[in-house]
Amino acid sequence: MGMLKVVVLISGRGSNLKAIIDKCSKKDVPAKIIGVISNNSNASGLKSNGKFKKIIINNELHKKEFEIKLQNHLKVLKPDLICLAGFMKILSPFIIKRWKNKIINVHPSLLPAFKGLNTHERALNAGVKKSGCTIHFVDESLDGGSIIAQVATAINKKMTSNELSKKILKMEHKIYPEIVKLFAKKEISVKKNKVFIKDEKKLNFFIKNI
Ligand code: GRF
Repeated sequence: MGMLKVVVLISGRGSNLKAIIDKCSKKDVPAKIIGVISNNSNASGLKSNGKFKKIIINNELHKKEFEIKLQNHLKVLKPDLICLAGFMKILSPFIIKRWKNKIINVHPSLLPAFKGLNTHERALNAGVKKSGCTIHFVDESLDGGSIIAQVATAINKKMTSNELSKKILKMEHKIYPEIVKLFAKKEISVKKNKVFIKDEKKLNFFIKNI
């Protein structure tokens, strides 16, 4: 099986990037990160070690110019999978269409609830009993796109948004790399916006044990 070539887009801390780097270093994961692209030269995630290209695209650029640069880098890198990991820019159809079904994202809520920012605060204020994280394909809509996997956790009324965020982030670090692994093993397919996992029971078991 060939290696899945992965490009990760980040804007900040990069803890999900690190989790994906760690997973890709495992022998049974036929994936390698070939590039990390950031719109923020100060992103601490750029300090992550690995044999991949680190590319910074000036965030001050006009959206179209930014995306032309991004598109050019992606065309050179030719990734099989593009992982958004705390990438704080909304991609337009110019990028999305060219890389259809190849861009995935992690969002810290159980989508379609709480799209956008400040998810934990909004979940707590809404009084929901559960929250979690979602790995999904990226389409033209904000935090839309077909859902690949979700991990849920019960919300304790006394929790602060910081505590909830920490709890969910740990879950993200487990599920996101696992989904990258399943892509590498060609166990994920999408037909008519529905996502199919080859061994769904196994993934559900994995999720249950997160
Ligand atoms: C995560 O909470 C992720 O769900 C959201 O942005 C945050 C990124 O964190 N999309 P990190 O940069 O991976 O540490």
